[in-house]
Amino acid sequence: MNILVTGGAGFIGSHVVRRLLTNYPNYHIYNLDALTYAGNLENLKDIESAPNYTFIKGDITESSFIHTIFKKHKFDAVIHLAAESHVDRSIYDPMAFVKTNVLGTVHLLNAAKSTWETDYTGKRFYHISTDEVYGTLEDTGLFTETTAYDPSSPYSASKASSDHFVRAYGETYGLPYVISNCSNNYGPNQFPEKLIPLFINNIIKNKPLPVYGDGNYTRDWLYVLDHALAIDLVLHNGKNAETYNIGGFNEWKNLKLVKLLCKQMDKRLGRAVGESESLIKYIKDRPGHDLRYAIDASKIKNELGWEPSVTFEEGLEKTIDWYLANEEWLKNVTSGEYREYYGRQYK
Ligand code: NAD
Ligand code: TYD
Repeated sequence: MNILVTGGAGFIGSHVVRRLLTNYPNYHIYNLDALTYAGNLENLKDIESAPNYTFIKGDITESSFIHTIFKKHKFDAVIHLAAESHVDRSIYDPMAFVKTNVLGTVHLLNAAKSTWETDYTGKRFYHISTDEVYGTLEDTGLFTETTAYDPSSPYSASKASSDHFVRAYGETYGLPYVISNCSNNYGPNQFPEKLIPLFINNIIKNKPLPVYGDGNYTRDWLYVLDHALAIDLVLHNGKNAETYNIGGFNEWKNLKLVKLLCKQMDKRLGRAVGESESLIKYIKDRPGHDLRYAIDASKIKNELGWEPSVTFEEGLEKTIDWYLANEEWLKNVTSGEYREYYGRQYK
C-alpha cells in the first residue's frame, strides 16, 4: 500500500508514521506536513532515512498542490491527522481552525474523490477526530458512536464540521471512509501547550502550574502509542463508513491528575514531597470549558479486539522519563513562538 499520512510530524502523527514504517516494511508511507509550530521533524529523526518513507512539506489548504501529489503518488489510503489541535488557540484565532480543519479536510476529500472515483476498490479515507465533537457530559454517562454532535469550542466545532464533510462525501459520492473519535492523548513528543507536557515542563523549571477554574473538569486519557495501535487496527480492519470511539477507560479530574503528576515528578527529580504541588495556581477559567469527556470504547474493543496496553500510572511515568531524557527537544520547541503564545495565554 501507498499511504498518505497528513500531520505526520505532529504528536500523534509521528507515532502513527513510526508504527506503520516499522510494522509494514512493504508499505510506502508519505508524510505530508506543513510544519506549523506543532510540526517537528525532530519527532521522526530515527526513521527519516527509512527506504519506505517520504516526507512532503506542504499545506492541506493548497488545493492544486494536494491534487498534484495525489496524482503523482497513487495513494491507496489516507490517514488524515493534520489539524490545528489546541482549544485555547482556537478561542484566540478561530479562522485558522476553519481554514485547516474544515477547508483543508475538504480539499483532501476532493483530491481523494477525483483520483479514486473511477475505481474505489481497495481505497480508504481514514479521518482522525476527537471526542470533543460530542460536547460535554454531566457527572454520568459516556459518549457512544451515536451520541449527537454538540461541540462547544471553535476547535471542536471545526472538527465536527470536518467529520460531517467526510460522512457527506461517503453518502454523496461513495467515497470509502472510516472515522475514529479519540479521547485526550498524552505521551512522548506532545507539544507543551497541552495540559500534561505543559505541566511537566513547568515543574522542571519551577514555574507555576496554571489550573483553569477549580480543576474539577474530567477528561479520559489515553497513551499515544495505544492510539497509534488503534489507528493501525481501524485502518486495516475497521468497517467502511463506520465510526469507532477510542478511549482509555481512564477518567481523571484535572486536579487529581495534576496531583499525581506532581507526586511522580517529585519522586523522579528527588524533590521533597509536595514541592511540585506547591506550584499549583488556580487561574481564570477557559471560556466554554467542557465539564466532562468520557468515552465508551466497547465497539472497538469488541469488534477489533483493541484495548489500552498501559495503565495511566505507567504511561505517565514513561512520559515523564521521555521529557527528562529529551531536554534539547523541549528547549527547541519552547523558544520563539512558544514564548509569545505562553505570554499571551497565561499573562
Ligand atoms: P498536533 O498539533 O501535535 O499536530 C498537528 C500536525 O498537523 C502538525 O505536525 C502540523 O504541522 C500539521 N499541520 C497543521 N496544519 C497543517 C496544514 N494546513 N497542512 C499540513 N499540515 C498541517 O496534533 P495532534 O495532537 O497530533 O493531533 C493530531 C490529530 O488527532 C488532529 O486531527 C486532532 O484533532 C486529533 N486528535 C488529537 C487528540 C489529542 O489529544 N491530541 C485527541 C483526539 C484527536
Ligand atoms: P488540554 O490538554 O488543553 O486538552 P482539551 O482541552 O482538549 O481537553 O486540557 C485538558 C484539561 O486541562 C482541560 O480541562 C483544560 C485543563 N487545562 C488547565 O487547567 N490548564 C492549562 O494550562 C491547560 C492547557 C489545560
